[in-house]
Amino acid sequence: LLVDKGNFRHFMAKEIHEQPEVVSHTLARYLDLNAMTTRLPDDLPFDFRTLNRIAISACGTAFYAGLVAKYWFERFARLPVDIDIASEFRYREMPLEPDGLSLFVSQSGETADTLASLRYCKGEGQHIAAIVNVEESTIARESDVIFPTLAGPEIGVASTKAFTCQLAVLTALAIAAGRARGHLSEEDERKLVEALVEIPRFAAQALRLEPQIERLAKTFSHASDVLYLGRGTSYPLAMEGALKLKEISYIHAEGYAAGELKHGPIALIDETLPVVVIAPYDRIFDKTVSNMQEVAARGGRIVLMTDPKGAEAASIDALETLVLPDMPATITPIVYALPVQLLAYHVAVFMGTDVDQPRNLAKSVTVE
Ligand code: AGP
Repeated sequence: LLVDKGNFRHFMAKEIHEQPEVVSHTLARYLDLNAMTTRLPDDLPFDFRTLNRIAISACGTAFYAGLVAKYWFERFARLPVDIDIASEFRYREMPLEPDGLSLFVSQSGETADTLASLRYCKGEGQHIAAIVNVEESTIARESDVIFPTLAGPEIGVASTKAFTCQLAVLTALAIAAGRARGHLSEEDERKLVEALVEIPRFAAQALRLEPQIERLAKTFSHASDVLYLGRGTSYPLAMEGALKLKEISYIHAEGYAAGELKHGPIALIDETLPVVVIAPYDRIFDKTVSNMQEVAARGGRIVLMTDPKGAEAASIDALETLVLPDMPATITPIVYALPVQLLAYHVAVFMGTDVDQPRNLAKSVTVE
């Protein structure tokens, strides 16, 4: 299969820009757009109604997708989710009860630790499901059922479109689980599906922030550390943002739950530390803003990613505000992923690193 960069300077840029299209494509596979419901295969090897637990294992970006999904499964389906980094899970000897679902998330389907976790869970008699981008992969072959992401080949070492497609599949699964378990009504499901259908449009709008992000990136290139903060489903996204930045720009970054600021990282705040705050105007917005004020009071340089209501309500001298469209809370981790990726991308381009092939990294980690 020949894949080229088209008119883009890097595969990563091309893959970021492909997201409205590939997410739409992926959603179409898991939604019935006439009935406005989720649509999963009839012959699932497990039954959401009788599951007592889901255990998710994955590495890196795929792990962060799984962490967002924990919030969704617990909220929509009242289904408890354990989520682990696969390299920890595989050696932990976690007790797994009958009728548990083990879910593996992997772009390549070849990640050694994720595969080892899968084999452990199989040995423990769990139902095995995987979300993979490569359908011919080992993880796909060894699973009872796969839920493919239709992202197309991802060439850039930094995962972008695979992440948002993983989230698209996971949200559809969580809604389907909620419906099956009777926690979501037909009407709830319809509203959620309506929100999902809007993702490609909002994602395309989010990409229009690129010129502003590119300017902002120059100021980041002087930083030696960057802190990312978020709450709820924006918390895993904060960690994903930090991972993306370190991978390709080699600037140290950390993602933190905004509420943890006081428990340590606030000691780092000074005029030299950029703090990226991911805060859509949702039911926990005020909490995040009060953390942001703590940063501002100590001279921290803030980049706020929010929406028009959030920008107005934040009333803070933010270094820069990236204003995304107003959108339903469920889809924010998917849409906000795009400016997060673009920021890392443009910092890296400005620093002159090898964006698609960053030093020391492999696309697929097939050894421990
Ligand atoms: C993401 O930008 C990374 N390169 C990396 O963390 C990656 O997500 C991880 O290695 C998992 O890979 P997989 O999805 O192919 O299993």
